[in-house]
Parts: sequence; structure tokens; C-alpha cells
Amino acid sequence: MRFDIVTIFPEFFSGPFEHGIIRRAKDARIVDIDVHDLRSWTSDRHHVVDDRPFGGGAGMVLKPEPLVNAVESLRLPSEGGRAVVVLTTPQGKLFDQREAERLASFDQVVLLCGRYEGVDERVVNAVVDEELSIGDVVLSGGELAACVVVDAVVRLLPGSLGCDRSAIEDSFSASTGLLDCPHYTRPAEFRGVAVPDVLLGGNHAEIARWRRQQSLVRTWKRRPELLDAAQLSDDDIRFLDELKATTK
Ligand code: ADE
Repeated sequence: MRFDIVTIFPEFFSGPFEHGIIRRAKDARIVDIDVHDLRSWTSDRHHVVDDRPFGGGAGMVLKPEPLVNAVESLRLPSEGGRAVVVLTTPQGKLFDQREAERLASFDQVVLLCGRYEGVDERVVNAVVDEELSIGDVVLSGGELAACVVVDAVVRLLPGSLGCDRSAIEDSFSASTGLLDCPHYTRPAEFRGVAVPDVLLGGNHAEIARWRRQQSLVRTWKRRPELLDAAQLSDDDIRFLDELKATTK
């Protein structure tokens, strides 16, 4: 899989992909991440990428020509695999685990980092397949959002994590739809707080049951709306009914 990131701040990306899982995935050629300076698709002497908005108002708008040229030169031809062009913007569809899983199925993701007051709407109409927002919060640009998208997708690629099971068990994964359970490591007691006994007992069925129930408790308390879409067993439903009946 490959990412092509188009930005006016290419140096922004010199750090985030040089650590941990992403670094290892790059070294193992599981993913290629190329960062491109939007200015290289300008044709004027000053490499201008933005201009004032028609109709007036504050801020600057990214011009259409450089972005459209960038996509047209970077997007793989259809025989090169499945490609998708994504614009990061607070106006986009909310990026979630399901979306990360979907993007992980493409051969190429071209990520356009939004900036300033926005991007000329004709870019969206001409070359953008999806507009994504990483949350209901306004960042100063799409670069951080692009990092979030790359990170969330790369860790899902086969071979990226040492152990492929842990991606499946993550919070929000399509397979559970629940928040993750709490985790503990040594020491068994820290500042007077002991690790739950069940985790020390070595009974794997009991441990799995406890973890599932903890996931249910957390999801119900923190993100109850997720339970509507989660796949729940009869045991889960019984447990939740009891929980609701015994908790104020
Ligand atoms: N650019 C600015 N804010 C953003 C957000 N929340 N998501 C994606 N891109 C953005």
C-alpha cells in the first residue's frame, strides 16, 4: 500500500512516521509514504498556492490548479490498483475505525491536507473522493489529521503489528464495536491498588469473560451509543440488563 501526502508543509512530516509501528511498516515495505510539496505543482515564479476568497471574508483559500495537478500526477492509473483521494477538512465525514478499515483496503491513498479558510470547492468536485474530519474540532491545518489517518490505517495492514490479533481486539474494531477493557502489568500491587484477582489466576476462560464484561461496563458508561451497533451475545445482554438494574 502507498500513501501520497500533498501539503504546503512537507517538513511537518519529517518526524511522525519515523517511530514505532509506522517506521517498522515502512522498513518492511508494507507501506510507502511519500510526502509532496504542493508548491511543486505551481507554474508561477512565486509558487503561489493560495488566494483571497471570492465574495470577501477573512483568510485565504487554496487554489484549484496546484491541487488538481497534484492529484492528476500522483493518482495511480486504474491498472496500478485501487486508489482513493482524501481531503482532510473539519467539514468532512467523521473518521472512525470503520473508515480506517475501509481505507486499508486500497492500494493507494492520496491525502490532500486542507489549509487556511479552505480549499477551492472545484477541487472537491473534480478530484476528491472523500472528505474526512478526525473529530468535531478545528485544527490549524489538515497535516495533523493526515498523520492520524496514516497511523490508524498503517497499523491495520497485515504484518504491521507484531501480533495481528491485537488490532482485531482494539477499541471500536468492527469485530467487537466495544471499548477495550482495562489492562494491567507488574507490579501486582501499586500504591495500595491490587490487580484484579481474576487476571492472576491463569484461568483463560474466566479472564476472557472478565475482559468482555469490563468492555461492556466501559462502553455502557462512556459511550452507550456504541452498544446499539455492537454484536452482543445473550450473555452480554443479560450482563448489561443486570448492570443497568444495579447501577444508578
Ligand atoms: N483540518 C482542520 N481541522 C480538521 C479536522 N478536525 N479534521 C480534519 N482536517 C482538519
